[in-house]
Amino acid sequence: MQNNSQYNRIGVFFHWLIAIMVSLSLFAGSQLLEPMANSNPEKLGALQGHAIFGVITGLLLILRYLNIKLRGKPSAANPQGSMLGTMAKWAHRLIYLLIFAVIGSGIAMAIEADFASIFAGTSLIPETFEHLTARTAHGVLTKLLVLVLLTHIIAALYHQFVIKDHLMRRMRWKRFD
Ligand code: HEM
Ligand code: HEM
Repeated sequence: MQNNSQYNRIGVFFHWLIAIMVSLSLFAGSQLLEPMANSNPEKLGALQGHAIFGVITGLLLILRYLNIKLRGKPSAANPQGSMLGTMAKWAHRLIYLLIFAVIGSGIAMAIEADFASIFAGTSLIPETFEHLTARTAHGVLTKLLVLVLLTHIIAALYHQFVIKDHLMRRMRWKRFD
């Protein structure tokens, strides 16, 4: 049964696992992968790791979404019809959408640059990915995702410490359920 003031334990577990995985991908993509020259012998392994990790994150996000759809979620944290409530609803949808769009653009890049042959060793990594449309989309979408996630974190902290409505309890691992 869904407790009406907290997410179920699996939902909470997935939230924090996905939060860690997305943060790691954002960090690794922008700080390790992007600055590494495509001629670097370590690039192939880094690309494979980044792509596989990203796809696994997407699969976990689908599982989290199904978990919430099947088991329900707590009643809204903000009063119904309030501006904060509407903003939270759309911000959460935007987070899901952006993560899938980032992964989708990654996969589109993999198709455009033919990662299948690169990973199989039958063709070489191109000199750069910069000319690919999907590469531009991936870069822009990851930046948008960072912005939305920063807003999400500020909003959670605002609830917790300014409104003082114990919002964080909703995402806390609990003993029952
Ligand atoms: C950085 C990666 C993160 C991602 C991808 C993420 C994603 C999400 C998503 C999609 C939801 C909506 C859940 C749903 O109903 O489907 C959510 C809710 C929530 N998140 Fe995060 N989150 C992240 C980080 C954080 C952090 C760092 C905090 C705490 C400071 C946090 C606190 C919360 C809380 C309290 C809720 C529940 C809000 C409510 O019940 O209205 N999240 N998160
Ligand atoms: C949650 C999933 C993912 C996140 C958060 C993420 C994040 C990032 C970031 C931040 C960058 C650097 C962008 C820039 O600074 O302009 C990047 C680059 C890249 N990502 Fe991802 N990514 C994800 C999934 C994927 C997937 C699934 C693939 C492929 C199947 C992929 C392939 C790439 C490639 C090829 C680059 C370019 C590296 C280069 O320019 O040398 N990403 N990613």
